[in-house]
Amino acid sequence: MSEDLSIIQGTKEEQYLSLIPQIKGLITGENNEIANLANIAAALKEQFQWLWVGFYLVDKDDELVLGPFQGPVACTRIKKGRGVCGTSWKENKTLIVPDVEKFPGHIACSSLSKSEIVLPYYRNNNFRGVLDVDSTELNSFDTIDQKYLEEILGLINDA
Ligand code: SME
Repeated sequence: MSEDLSIIQGTKEEQYLSLIPQIKGLITGENNEIANLANIAAALKEQFQWLWVGFYLVDKDDELVLGPFQGPVACTRIKKGRGVCGTSWKENKTLIVPDVEKFPGHIACSSLSKSEIVLPYYRNNNFRGVLDVDSTELNSFDTIDQKYLEEILGLINDA
């Protein structure tokens, strides 16, 4: 069976609306979390061509470890409260960073990254980690991304 994604041009919203049913199709019926996170990262990267899309997952009480991702190599471990990812975890909220240089403590895995969004990710009401997306452009992310990326993360629970 072909697993090719249909990639569309269009507004950001149109792109998410095209992608979400395809992601649903990819992960429905599969309860292996790593497999589903890997396909979600790949689908988002393919549609939006962002610099980096991936997951950091809880590994110890106070640490995230690199999970499935697409893009350049990245730092392996992030402590709770450190960087955008660790802050999103500590504050338990989505963080939209229009200019990473203005975020105190931002961890620069790639010098090409200019803006970022990080969303906490839960499975069955348990915090599992964060979804981190990086762009080479300033101001790439807004509440439209937040809304649809949160919807995509919610699909993992229903898979
Ligand atoms: N910039 C992130 C680190 C992860 S990389 O961007 C992939 C942070 O500040 O937490």
